[in-house]
Amino acid sequence: MSKKISVNEPVFDDSEVNIAQTILDSGLLSSSNMYGGKYVKIFEKQLSELLDCKYAVAVNSGTSALYASLLSLGIKSGDEVLVPSFSFTATASAVIATGATPVFVDISSSNYNIDLSLIESRISKKTKAIIPVHLYGHPVNIEQLSEITSADNIPIIEDGAQSLGSSINGKKCGTLGDLGCTSLYPTKVITSGEGGVITTNDDELYNQLLMIRNHGLDKSGQTIRFGLNLRMPELEAALASIQLSKLNDFINIRRKNSNIISEFINEFELSIPVEDDGIFLNRYLYTLSLSHSREEIMTFMEKQGINTAIYYRTPIHKMPFYQTFNNTYELPNTDTASSQVLSIPIHSGLSNDDINHVGQSLCNALKTIY
Ligand SMILES: Cc1ncc(COP(=O)(O)O)c(C=O)c1O
Repeated sequence: MSKKISVNEPVFDDSEVNIAQTILDSGLLSSSNMYGGKYVKIFEKQLSELLDCKYAVAVNSGTSALYASLLSLGIKSGDEVLVPSFSFTATASAVIATGATPVFVDISSSNYNIDLSLIESRISKKTKAIIPVHLYGHPVNIEQLSEITSADNIPIIEDGAQSLGSSINGKKCGTLGDLGCTSLYPTKVITSGEGGVITTNDDELYNQLLMIRNHGLDKSGQTIRFGLNLRMPELEAALASIQLSKLNDFINIRRKNSNIISEFINEFELSIPVEDDGIFLNRYLYTLSLSHSREEIMTFMEKQGINTAIYYRTPIHKMPFYQTFNNTYELPNTDTASSQVLSIPIHSGLSNDDINHVGQSLCNALKTIY
């Protein structure tokens, strides 16, 4: 049987294999230097140049990036942080890890991102940060958001785990708020296995982040604040650097594949992901909204050798752990999205035959089932 087509998978060639060998041969697998090892520094410089921001701090996961960002802002027990519930659980668990409370806000049904019109009503005296998520790679309008949050001086941490390469009005996701967080998990647009990065233009936040990822140590080797080992190993940094040099190519293939899928299904009246004026999408996920028969369509695609995926079947506030904190939330758009969304493979490892097979199968599924 030929290989199953997955929604996302890592795409490597000899360059990653060769750099991995070079690093293994060198024996220099990590560095406890405040500024990281050789490849950590190379990767950080490359990313900050690409995104056009002052600093990038590499860490060992996107979750660590969020956690370190919250710590750098001094978020602590008793504080509240606004987050969407329609996201990966890490968006909220990073808040819990600081002792603060995530306050869930509903999403807009037009783009699945946090509903900016609800923010003001959710801000309390305890609100000390907000984490908008650029879900599926679709940018949140951070300029509009900061107009709402600036009166209360509430810092913005972008959860850009899915949005590397996306931009809004020419400005890259990850550089729009006070801090931006990226993930390099294997299902992301580029990967280093595990990994994350925080981007910022703020000198003080940068200094705090360098210490937070390295046991709270300052330049003299003294622990002067709380920190952990959140460092990115050299192997991951080198892989991330190679992958980053391919980001534009990967995104171009995703964008081409996304157009092919849209062509295949344009006869159906479906809500498909559109690129509004001023927005550039990295096409991390191609997500449809199906008002019925989602499971049947998934099964049909599965039989054609194609995986589809639901991001997210259970919104965070409905996860058992979060229900123990507060089960009174009413987030109707979040609930609807959870019951309707379905993501289709468009990743950069698909051949022309693969993407045509995905498009044709989806068209057939919709024709026979929807
Ligand atoms: C929206 C979102 N936030 C946070 C994360 C956490 O990133 P990581 O898996 O690298 O810890 C992910 C990815 O898994 C994500 O999709």
